[in-house]
Amino acid sequence: MDFKNPVFLASGTFEYGLIYKNVTKKMGAIFTKGITLQPRKGNPPPRIYEAACGLINSVGLENPGVKLFREEVLPRMRELKTKIFVNVAGFALDDFVKIVGELDSRVDGFELNVSCPNVKTGGVAFGRDPEICAEVVTNVRRVTKLPIIVKLTTNFCDPLAIGRRCVAAGADGLSLINTLHAMAFDVVQKRVLITGGLSGPAIKPVALFCVHRLRDLGVPLIGMGGIMSGRDAYEFLLAGASAVSIGSATLRDPYAPLRILKEFEKIVKRLGWEAGKDG
Ligand SMILES: Cc1cc2nc3c(=O)[nH]c(=O)nc-3n(C[C@H](O)[C@H](O)[C@H](O)COP(=O)(O)O)c2cc1C
Repeated sequence: MDFKNPVFLASGTFEYGLIYKNVTKKMGAIFTKGITLQPRKGNPPPRIYEAACGLINSVGLENPGVKLFREEVLPRMRELKTKIFVNVAGFALDDFVKIVGELDSRVDGFELNVSCPNVKTGGVAFGRDPEICAEVVTNVRRVTKLPIIVKLTTNFCDPLAIGRRCVAAGADGLSLINTLHAMAFDVVQKRVLITGGLSGPAIKPVALFCVHRLRDLGVPLIGMGGIMSGRDAYEFLLAGASAVSIGSATLRDPYAPLRILKEFEKIVKRLGWEAGKDG
């Protein structure tokens, strides 16, 4: 698949790309907010908490559900003329298959968000179990010929073991990392203020380590986690990624992806595309 450029918009941080259209249009691809079978209102506040060098989010997959997304959101996204990957969020194996079935041939590809709790296994995330993850990919493979990317979690599991099984099951690419489990306290009330996922510069070193660990799996990797500059993006290239996604940086500055893309192009021109000695 050819992209305008290898700098993408990460799932959940740029909604559907319709607010800052002039940014979305310039990027290689947009990954939508996680789409579920049914509409979801998401979690009550607080949903975002600023941590040191990053943020904790607890949005709770707020989205219109696959039917409304297909009828009302997708046609407007198509006008943006950039590649659209739908982030598919399932709570059961069947959810993934149904959502992909509803959208097949209307989008450019799918990113399977396997971080949701699996209702059948008492809430253990799909993404923690290599066999269940592979089963999701095998089943989705049957209903689409479009590219399937698996968005890996690193929470309480080894992404290498999971990535390997997903590739064997037919995944065309892997994206990593998703947010890390995190928590913050209200010290006056002496209670938990927020439980959610940590993102931003705080997780960049973890993300680089994980991308580097998976670089020999033989499929393209999309690296993400704390990319705030072209230099950060270039580090992911050195680690073994073929493309990068910008997430939390857009919450501080919605135009950051344009700046990062420019900086990235400049640094690639100066230092070359080839990965370093270790890459
Ligand atoms: C507010 C927010 C919402 C997110 N929603 C999703 C989502 O719906 N699906 C998903 O796979 N990842 C989601 N993510 C994770 C990001 O796509 C990305 O993997 C992660 O934030 C790391 O990149 P970053 O540090 O550049 O933000 C979300 C992240 C944030 C901050």
